[in-house]
Amino acid sequence: MYQDWEELEAACMRCEKCGLCAGRRNVVFGVGNRRAKVMFVGEGPGEHEDLQGEPFVGRGGQLLDKMLAAVDLDRKSNVYIANIVKCRPPQNRDPLPGEQEACIGWLRNQFALVRPRVLVCLGRVAATRLMDPNIKITKQHGNFVEKSGVLMMATLHPAALLRNPGQKPAAFEDFLKLRETIDQLGCDVAKDQAE
Ligand code: URA
Repeated sequence: MYQDWEELEAACMRCEKCGLCAGRRNVVFGVGNRRAKVMFVGEGPGEHEDLQGEPFVGRGGQLLDKMLAAVDLDRKSNVYIANIVKCRPPQNRDPLPGEQEACIGWLRNQFALVRPRVLVCLGRVAATRLMDPNIKITKQHGNFVEKSGVLMMATLHPAALLRNPGQKPAAFEDFLKLRETIDQLGCDVAKDQAE
């Protein structure tokens, strides 16, 4: 476990723990405030993320930014965003269990350094990996559960919302609940500043 962000990021950038390293253009480490009280976890980089080295910068990412903005959250100031796997799976397939296993230590180290109060899983892959292997996200999205001292919630993946725009209002409800929960915890995220 690295205690220092620069060392952690440098080691992650050199990672060759699974086969995904062979096809990557960039390792997509994470973005945002490293002391954020709210952390988001997606599944893995897509094409745009692989090219730019930043999570959620494609169409799904633009939608995520809009939903964040609607509840006064912003990747530049008061949230931290990372993925289960840091390198793009070919053809955007789900990361394999072995790839997730190889990569999850980086996320655990990020989580240990950020120490968020609330963690939001974006989509099934993150929710099954971090919350409950049997979670049914279509039914259980928006429900907060406490795990290891952190409030966790799963919401629908932005890419799923682009495929099924009819689900956007339900996802928006999840973001409103997230905002309520942040306020109930007394987290003054408005004062957070990116480092
Ligand atoms: N989908 C994800 O799960 N993560 C990203 O960074 C981009 C798309």
